[in-house]
Amino acid sequence: MGVHLMPDTAHPPVNLADHEALASACVPPAVWAYWSGGAGDERTLCHNAEAWQGLALHPRVLRPIGGLGMETQMLHRTCPSPLLVAPMARHGLAHPDAEHATALAASALGVGLVLSMQSHTPLEDVARAMDPGPTRGPLWFQLYHLGDRAWTLELAHRAQAAGYEALVLTVDAPLQGVRDRERRANVASLPQGPQPHWPPSPPPGSTDQLLAQAPTWDDVHWLRQHSPLPLLLKGITHPDDAALALDLGIDGLIVSNHGGRVLDTMPPTVQLLPAVVAAVQGRCPVLVDGGIRRGTDVFKALALGADAVLLGRPVLWGLAHAGAHGVAHVLRLLLDELWATMALCGVARTGDIGPEYLSRS
Ligand SMILES: Cc1cc2nc3c(=O)[nH]c(=O)nc-3n(C[C@H](O)[C@H](O)[C@H](O)COP(=O)(O)O)c2cc1C
Repeated sequence: MGVHLMPDTAHPPVNLADHEALASACVPPAVWAYWSGGAGDERTLCHNAEAWQGLALHPRVLRPIGGLGMETQMLHRTCPSPLLVAPMARHGLAHPDAEHATALAASALGVGLVLSMQSHTPLEDVARAMDPGPTRGPLWFQLYHLGDRAWTLELAHRAQAAGYEALVLTVDAPLQGVRDRERRANVASLPQGPQPHWPPSPPPGSTDQLLAQAPTWDDVHWLRQHSPLPLLLKGITHPDDAALALDLGIDGLIVSNHGGRVLDTMPPTVQLLPAVVAAVQGRCPVLVDGGIRRGTDVFKALALGADAVLLGRPVLWGLAHAGAHGVAHVLRLLLDELWATMALCGVARTGDIGPEYLSRS
């Protein structure tokens, strides 16, 4: 992309792991622990990435692959690519330009963005940084329901007014996971930074209060009825929960174990995805995240029936060491790898990627 990313390194980053190495060298240990750590013994965190790698591809040859394109249909519109930036809190820990830089990069690359409710940048400013043109990826707003329905609705309407296309309700984290690495590094001492979407009421003082206000299916039903925007649920992993969500008219599901940050020893998302896809039977889009680090991983997710994937930590790596250029480079690398994988598997359209391209042995 013609940008000299790190003049003082021997070579520019050529893959996402290179971006990880560059980022780890330039952020304080507590920030690195916050980003990289997972829950418990971090088994789910490790398995997420390993499991994508462990799935083998089975290409076809001599197929026409001219005009290869990565467009994807989702929520009644064409998306330039099947890739979105996952919602992640507090981008200001990575770079002073924070979510503004992430939005610029995603928009330039035709990648979608799911803005976290815990962003440092107000949702309106982020929306302004996204190119409004048709080549832009989807812009969605992620929220936690914190028990205050009026606040949730106010946020939903703010997001709609600012041009967001959908809401993503995260349902897998009624409380934080047990994160040893974070406690050792004293992550709690990091400055909180601005919280432009947090309710004015004080956070609950006790775990009992936290659990008492944890969202239930009643809240999902209520939000589906009142939301001015399509509503997706993030953190669905059980096919029976997928069926409940469909009964409530949910518009999309994100299969996620929160990047291994909440409940350790959950299976990797590559193992959870097929049962959810089978339960949904094409009635709404299914997305997946967790451990996606290569274009081949994206291809495999689509082969297992996902409509699109979300990318988490690597976005923060690019942001930390090179701002918007770093994020753009991370996204460019992944899209180029997906493009090459499609060509080498003999598939010209994302919609044609199916389980026949996975090795059954
Ligand atoms: C530092 C960090 C902050 C996160 N904050 C949020 C958040 O605010 N809301 C949310 O739904 N998920 C959050 N997540 C989870 C991501 O959306 C995503 O599920 C996960 O990072 C995907 O896995 P990956 O990082 O291996 O790609 C966060 C993840 C990280 C690493």
